[in-house]
Amino acid sequence: MSPGAPLKALSRRLNKRRATWCLVPPITRTLPSFIPRPYSTYSAQPPPELSSAKGALLGALSRNLDKRRETGRILEIPDPVAQANAVDFGSNDVLSISTGLLREELFRELEDHPDFAVGSRGSRVLDGNSRYVTGLEAHLAQSHNAKDALLFNSGYEANIAIWTTIPQPGDVIVYDELVHASIHDGIKGTRTTQVFSFQHNNPASFEEVLRSIKTCHPEIAQGSRTLFVAMESVYSVDGDICPVHQFVNSAKEILPFADRVFMIDESHSCGMIGPMGLGLVCHYGLENEFALRLHTFGKAIGCTGAALFCDPVIKHTLFNYARNFIFTTGPTFMVLAAVKAAHRIIGGAEGDLRRERVQKNISHFYDCLQSHPQWETFYQTGRLRIVEEDWRLHRFRTAVTPLITQPGESRALQAQLLKDGFLVHALQYPIVPLDSERLRIMLHADNTPQQVESFVEAIMRWARQRYYPPRSCKLCDAA
Ligand SMILES: Cc1ncc(COP(=O)(O)O)c(C=O)c1O
Repeated sequence: MSPGAPLKALSRRLNKRRATWCLVPPITRTLPSFIPRPYSTYSAQPPPELSSAKGALLGALSRNLDKRRETGRILEIPDPVAQANAVDFGSNDVLSISTGLLREELFRELEDHPDFAVGSRGSRVLDGNSRYVTGLEAHLAQSHNAKDALLFNSGYEANIAIWTTIPQPGDVIVYDELVHASIHDGIKGTRTTQVFSFQHNNPASFEEVLRSIKTCHPEIAQGSRTLFVAMESVYSVDGDICPVHQFVNSAKEILPFADRVFMIDESHSCGMIGPMGLGLVCHYGLENEFALRLHTFGKAIGCTGAALFCDPVIKHTLFNYARNFIFTTGPTFMVLAAVKAAHRIIGGAEGDLRRERVQKNISHFYDCLQSHPQWETFYQTGRLRIVEEDWRLHRFRTAVTPLITQPGESRALQAQLLKDGFLVHALQYPIVPLDSERLRIMLHADNTPQQVESFVEAIMRWARQRYYPPRSCKLCDAA
């Protein structure tokens, strides 16, 4: 971000707020006044319109659920017992720290702080702040080579806060069409009306959008308004990596005088890519190009929550204006301690070992699949496909390893694999396009080579039974 326009605009906004001594915008809508009736006038029976309301509501909701069931898209609350002993090829805990190593490190952190408060006791803007949380923000900012950091209860909340608060009316937002739902939801609530998408990971499409902005929005080209660009480092559905250099360079070339604010969501690269797992931006040394970097802690970090790396003015603006930051209880000590403990693990030699094991498991999985005697048959007939044909050539292999099935088949494969003792998740339309329904396989540090081999064998066994079931013999059946 160039130092000029946007930070000045945000600072002016903060100063206005300082002048009014009001942290939170007043609620401008007036509520209709409620005049209570004398108690005696309430009858024991609810009025007829209320008694039927419950039935009407549940009826309407049930019909919605039935519709979803009919299209095969109903989500059921997973059975924790069935999943408990399954081998993990599904969870986001890709470094496999959450259920063991991190617990031990967390206990050590708790022992060092025996007087911790269990609850955070309020919003961060009131009593939910502490030396521990500000210290953790400073530590994370320093290790990620950022000016400042702001912690959120979740990545979802962080994206809502960023996009509803930071872009100002008249600014322009450009985003990759496949960014996470939380970015889409944040952008839906944004204060600018100028929002454009470009085709997924496609620099040519991005450049086309920028050229039309250059023509139609001179205020962006001249730098008096700000251009925001939203992307992810690793996309959560295909596991593909963003060509960050190309996007940054194209924007510089096409809009050299623009005030550019690049935002990157590093949910799937933090902990996994770069020195000490610091992410894609740190790996390439592009910290100055990305004014907003979001790291979420629910994946390789093995915890919950998120950190936004940004300028202190942006942090202060979020602290003052992001309603979902202000009107909610801050993160608890337990969560913060877990985040700190996790960063100790992933930033050390153990983290390196685990990242290496994930890489080996990804290669082993693809090798087992592609060398399986029946793979070619299923692959040629389009019954099973992988997205990354040339996975060997990739500089980074990401733990997200999709296996495309035929439409309507992924749930059945997922269910059979669970029966066989493997936990994995199916992604269906509308999360993915109709013709690329899939299993979203996550390879983990603690998956053993034998588990990977048995998992591949179970997939191929399902495919054999599904597409080439043994013919029944009338004579045998009769006997
Ligand atoms: C790219 C991306 N951003 C944001 C989120 C939301 O993060 P959280 O689970 O911490 O709310 C996710 C989670 O799936 C994600 O994949």
